[in-house]
Amino acid sequence: MIATQIHGVRGRQILDSRGRPTVEAEVVLAGGARATASAPAGASRGAAEAFELRDGDPAHFEGRGVITAAAHVSGEISAALVGRDGLDQAGVDGLMRKLDGTPQLSRLGGNAVLAVSIAVARAGAAAIGVPLYRRLSELAGGSEPTMPMPMVNILSGGLHAARGMDVQDFLVIPVGAASYSQALDWACRVRSAAALLCDRTGISTLLADEGGLSPGFTQSSDALDLMVRAFEHAGLKPGVDVAIALDIAANSLVDASGRYRFQRAGERLTSEEMIERLEAWTGRYPIVSIEDGLHEEDWAHWPTLTRRLGHIQLIGDDLFATQPARIARGVEIGAGNCALIKINQNGTLTGTLEALSTARAGGFATVVSARSGETEDTFIADLAVGSAAAQIKIGSVRNTERLAKYNQLSRIEEDGLPFAGWTRGR
Ligand code: PGA
Ligand code: ZN
Repeated sequence: MIATQIHGVRGRQILDSRGRPTVEAEVVLAGGARATASAPAGASRGAAEAFELRDGDPAHFEGRGVITAAAHVSGEISAALVGRDGLDQAGVDGLMRKLDGTPQLSRLGGNAVLAVSIAVARAGAAAIGVPLYRRLSELAGGSEPTMPMPMVNILSGGLHAARGMDVQDFLVIPVGAASYSQALDWACRVRSAAALLCDRTGISTLLADEGGLSPGFTQSSDALDLMVRAFEHAGLKPGVDVAIALDIAANSLVDASGRYRFQRAGERLTSEEMIERLEAWTGRYPIVSIEDGLHEEDWAHWPTLTRRLGHIQLIGDDLFATQPARIARGVEIGAGNCALIKINQNGTLTGTLEALSTARAGGFATVVSARSGETEDTFIADLAVGSAAAQIKIGSVRNTERLAKYNQLSRIEEDGLPFAGWTRGR
């Protein structure tokens, strides 16, 4: 018996930051190393994502229970993994995919499989006594661990704030920061300045799912103006020290006829008009990154968007859904130039690392991202560093499920790793 052999796996139902059930897995190795990990959950989900298995029993957590998925962890998955080497991540992940037998992990549940996958990685790192990010760097093929540039949510709309604004996220990227800690400091200053400016003008700001402010502007340009004013109020130069990133989350705007519906502003745009709109905003504001500017099946217009706005970062989130094949298609036809990487969109760590390397091989940038529903699990902080993703998107600098990850990055920073900084589109 070797110390890193899997001795047992248990699943349980815990709660995420929206008070909804999610799966936690606990893995014990033969030598005594033990780790827990949990699956996050999205609200604006792509169709190509790994399947999230929920009980559907209306009498239990409004149908959102994950008792079945947790039972799959303690039952079938544990039975298949006991005795396997916990350091054989690809073998463990491959076995779970095979056991599931469906393309989107819909039988056992992507939430069950993911929680086990990352708990195994964490237990493996503990067993060999290395920081998790070092272990992940090794699994990622030896990339040099790097502190990522954070993009931090300041204003929220869309499905994260009861459709209080049409656009889902207005974020800050501290493009001029010289270190992760300076970037974090500047982002916190911008977040405070935005809250203060709203307060002064009597705009009520509800706290959105990712800890951002939801001022409920009808016009997106008002939110963009507020971002710039917050930068200035924080004593930071727009476009030099700090810049704007947007997540349009266009999937949640598109209607049955394929038009983009800005409900609050009372507009319906064609794909071409949407591209023009994004171009106009980018001309007027210091915007350096736009996520999901078009919806996940608008492959016909993504290359046009990329030709017109490819000098800035164009991220595919729902578009790629952390699926290597979809990223490869994006690289081939020139749809965007950056892939958002969400572990639970893929379903396993091995698949997520493959998505990262597919993006990188195609010359795409990468952003490791949280979901709007999160737990205290800090795995993605280590993943962003270990895989040298260069960017991380966690949400706002509020709420412990977000801060746990920022704080983990602060601990890792003590190891003196290089900082990715910002290179594109300034
Ligand atoms: P989700 O959205 O986690 O609610 O799906 C986050 C995002 O769109 O980036
Ligand atoms: Zn998104």
